[in-house]
Amino acid sequence: MTEGMIIVTKLEDLFYTRTLLDGPVGLVPTMGYLHAGHISLVRQAKIECKSVIATIFVNPTQFGPHEDLASYPRNLENDLRLLEQAGVNIVWTPATEDMYPPDFQTWVEVENLTSLLEGSMRPGHFRGVTTIVSKLFNATRPDKSYFGQKDAQQAAVIRQMTRDLSYPIDIVICRTQREADGLAMSSRNAYLTTDQRKAADILYRALLAAQTAFDDGEKNAETLRQIVKDVLATEHQAQLQYVSCADYDTLKELDTLSGKALLSLAVFIGKTRLIDNFILG
Ligand code: PAJ
Repeated sequence: MTEGMIIVTKLEDLFYTRTLLDGPVGLVPTMGYLHAGHISLVRQAKIECKSVIATIFVNPTQFGPHEDLASYPRNLENDLRLLEQAGVNIVWTPATEDMYPPDFQTWVEVENLTSLLEGSMRPGHFRGVTTIVSKLFNATRPDKSYFGQKDAQQAAVIRQMTRDLSYPIDIVICRTQREADGLAMSSRNAYLTTDQRKAADILYRALLAAQTAFDDGEKNAETLRQIVKDVLATEHQAQLQYVSCADYDTLKELDTLSGKALLSLAVFIGKTRLIDNFILG
């Protein structure tokens, strides 16, 4: 493959440029408005793969009817600059009408895992995610694909889908990148006012308090959830939607922690919904 980043929109152009890549090929799927969290996935892909494809597509089917599809932040020019700097070979920016033509009627759905946590709060969300990621896998045929621990349940659901559908793809989960005060990087942080942004580090501080208690020997899941709630209650701008302390693999709520656990939460700061998580143990 020659140097320089190639930007393609049409599927047939992707197919052609894909044939020019040396393997192994890494895929980094995104919805754009890129930040250092996204770029950390590209960096990991660059370390492990000969060629890297990134996709930018704000996938309408993973947004609920009252969610932020219309206002989701976009800045294609800046995204392309960041991806080129990071050494991406192909950027695919498909058009919505090509991904979902009017007669579209085939969906990919992971069952049990998606009924919990984010799935229970955002019905249909993961059906949209697994359908689009499946289409991206089929079109780009990567050897490895990179996802962030920030979206812990998404990572678990994609791993399950990859196993269940026998995709010959390694799923690599990369650690959460954070701002200096601990706030997990997210495209949605752009919605926060200056005041809300200051308050938003409460998610990290709540998780940290529970992590500290866990490290000091606290193994009762309800106590750990309560610690998160108590810290969040000190910030009047924060409205807790859920806090979960669940088995890392099944995402089922725990009574007592023994193996690996996922401590996760969703919080509204004003109208902005933020999620974050720590792995315990
Ligand atoms: P998006 O929110 O753009 O995120 C793209 C990838 O970046 C996801 O794998 C996400 O977990 C990862 N990511 C986001 N913030 C991160 C952070 N602070 N640290 C590390 N990784 C981070 O997730 C999606 O898009 C979509 O659901 C998608 C998978 C592209 C399907 O439409």
